[in-house]
Amino acid sequence: MRIAVITGASSGMGKEFAIKLEQQHNFDEIWVIARRADRLYELKEQLGDKVRPISLDLTKDESLNKYKEMLESEKPEIAVLVNASGYGKFEAFENLSLEDQTGMIDLNAKALTAVTYLSLPYLKKGSEVYQIASLSSFQPVPYLAVYGATKAYVLSFTRAVGAEIRKKGIKMMAVCPGWVKTEFFDRAVVKEGVITYFNQFFTAEQIVKRAMRDMKKGKDVSVCGPKIRAQVLLTKLLHHRAVMRIWMWQQKK
Ligand SMILES: NC(=O)c1ccc[n+]([C@@H]2O[C@H](COP(=O)([O-])OP(=O)(O)OC[C@H]3O[C@@H](n4cnc5c(N)ncnc54)[C@H](OP(=O)(O)O)[C@@H]3O)[C@@H](O)[C@H]2O)c1
Repeated sequence: MRIAVITGASSGMGKEFAIKLEQQHNFDEIWVIARRADRLYELKEQLGDKVRPISLDLTKDESLNKYKEMLESEKPEIAVLVNASGYGKFEAFENLSLEDQTGMIDLNAKALTAVTYLSLPYLKKGSEVYQIASLSSFQPVPYLAVYGATKAYVLSFTRAVGAEIRKKGIKMMAVCPGWVKTEFFDRAVVKEGVITYFNQFFTAEQIVKRAMRDMKKGKDVSVCGPKIRAQVLLTKLLHHRAVMRIWMWQQKK
């Protein structure tokens, strides 16, 4: 059985990946994972019977065990894996709860690592792995301190593991978007942590289309939009102290 697995498929970029993959590939099943079962069943209604809703909270060990057991019992070939589950909270480090701080690490870094690890034996030559990182992967970001650090982890992890498994013909790529109009912001904005969004907002479709194009080209990092690419270049040219100073000035801190 040839499948695609998408975490975070109940909204935003994960959902967009599900829509695009259903259109473009010949999968026996598309496993869509997130907590909100109703959204996943809506997606099944929209895209058809190949979609298999799997309601899991990936911050819980029992959810990761359930995913492991499903793989062991069905032994699918995972042709595409997308790790899009994630959240961020924008606020001063001291003002966020410990639960929120460690929750971001549990979902954005630990769960992504675990899902990748558990999926690895089922990836074959030609399989593709999309790991959703962020523009904040490239620099320390005050007021997104923990979120940015988790995304720096995703970028580093993806490139390193990608280099290890390339010889097996498996492609792994970090997707690093700037701001994207999704439900992410319903959860992210806390009081006055981040007050200015200088860059343009992208649509989930723009990010996913670009990521799929970059995957075909064999890139290990996908950055959508010339302004965002320029910003990434600046984070490589300037001292990170200067990059953070510009961000703080933008945020009037
Ligand atoms: N939007 C942006 O500006 C932006 C920019 C750069 C990177 N990103 C990253 O892109 C990825 C996708 O975000 P998005 O913008 O598409 O936001 P989104 O619409 O809020 O999607 C986040 C997804 O993660 C799932 N999720 C949240 N907590 C979960 C949990 N405990 N277990 C399993 N799934 C969980 C959500 O589903 P449920 O709530 O149903 O569980 C949802 O499907 C995230 O990793 C985010 O950090 C976003």
